[in-house]
Amino acid sequence: MLKHLSKEEGDAPLGSQSPPAKRPCPDLQVPWNPEVDLCWHTLVRGASDECEPEWCESEDPLFILYTSGSTGKPKGVLHTLSGYMLYTALTFKLVFDYQPDDVYWCTADIGWITGHSYITYGPLANGATSVLFEGLPTYPDVSRMWEIVDKYHVTKFYTAPTAIRLLMKYGREPVQKYKRDSLKVLGTVGEPINPEAWQWYYSVVGEKRCPIVDTFWQTETGGHVLTPLPAATPMKPGSATFPFFGVVPAVLNESGEELEGASEGYLVFKQPWPGVMRTVYGNQQRFETTYFKKFPGYYVTGDGCRRDKDGYYWITGRIDDMLNVSGHLLSTAEVESALAEHEAVAEAAVVGRPHPVKGESLYCFVTLTDGVTYSRTLEAELKKQGKIMRRVLRKIACDERDLGDISTLADSSVVEHLFQNRCCVGV
Ligand code: WTA
Repeated sequence: MLKHLSKEEGDAPLGSQSPPAKRPCPDLQVPWNPEVDLCWHTLVRGASDECEPEWCESEDPLFILYTSGSTGKPKGVLHTLSGYMLYTALTFKLVFDYQPDDVYWCTADIGWITGHSYITYGPLANGATSVLFEGLPTYPDVSRMWEIVDKYHVTKFYTAPTAIRLLMKYGREPVQKYKRDSLKVLGTVGEPINPEAWQWYYSVVGEKRCPIVDTFWQTETGGHVLTPLPAATPMKPGSATFPFFGVVPAVLNESGEELEGASEGYLVFKQPWPGVMRTVYGNQQRFETTYFKKFPGYYVTGDGCRRDKDGYYWITGRIDDMLNVSGHLLSTAEVESALAEHEAVAEAAVVGRPHPVKGESLYCFVTLTDGVTYSRTLEAELKKQGKIMRRVLRKIACDERDLGDISTLADSSVVEHLFQNRCCVGV
């Protein structure tokens, strides 16, 4: 889209209309390219006021959104028209207790599934008034979000734990500079919210007046699948509580047996709901293998969970080789192959490491090709070994000395060497 209007295009007279609003970044010099750039104002001036609807089948594809796959290649998650729209509209309405006088603000990136479902389709299908924001929670200062909440009298606010943890670092004062008395419901999505961040969100941001909806879902599920309903579901900090209407979760053990009562295992779903993905674009086989093969008859989320004695669900995190960095899923295999594409890299292994703000960060172990100068030779030894023990690497990343059995390592002295030379690769 347009980044910067050229003088000629941007200043073109628009008849009786007021001059075009320019983006608020005059220093950003993106040259106008007449081959690909079109002026919005010129196009709109020539457009008709009428737009006939295009009639579609309910199961026609609506969009494809790529999400990381644990085998490396991203999967094109395909959603269809009616089911997805019905589901996002209904979850939006009930989970945020949407009322016609609400001003709703979801801070997500619009290109993420959260932006698709809960900036675009859900709110628009309800005719909701929304704040669309392009910017950072810390610019021009760390009060930015609360300033906007007051300015537009935001009533329903939806963000990610990583943003809350980031703002928590700056204390209460930047929050309390603003009134925030319009707020009614606070939402969170994208990763498990630690109880400390939950408490801060609840007490400092919401001043204990606003219920928190911790919404668990995935690109694949289209919309919320485990979530409280505000003020109706008693909350427990850090729990996404119960299934949404029509969603039937189960907790399975490694042998695929359903566990009853308080238990911990694989989180799966037992029946479809309208918003569930229909296929992996161009690869139905991969759809079946990824989600339905491990436990036939169940949709496998790839997440672990704990169900407590009161029936509350607690997401314990990914149980495949996926990492959740600031609410964004990354596949270790994908990062590894990206690193390995560099000619100096012979082999790479990537693991997660707890991070106070991002939830997890990437910790990359890289082996360089022979002949490339690098101060450490250790990675070359790991390469020779052939097999990479992720479990051991994960412990090294966290500086945990209790490694368990490492007798299958060809040369266990490399482990000590790695401990001695730990340094965090900031990604
Ligand atoms: C994680 C984002 C705990 C989970 C909407 C899931 C969560 C993955 C929560 C999907 C939550 C999302 N509590 N974990 N409330 N919400 N997740 O496809 O691991 O980008 O499988 O969709 O995020 O990430 P995706």
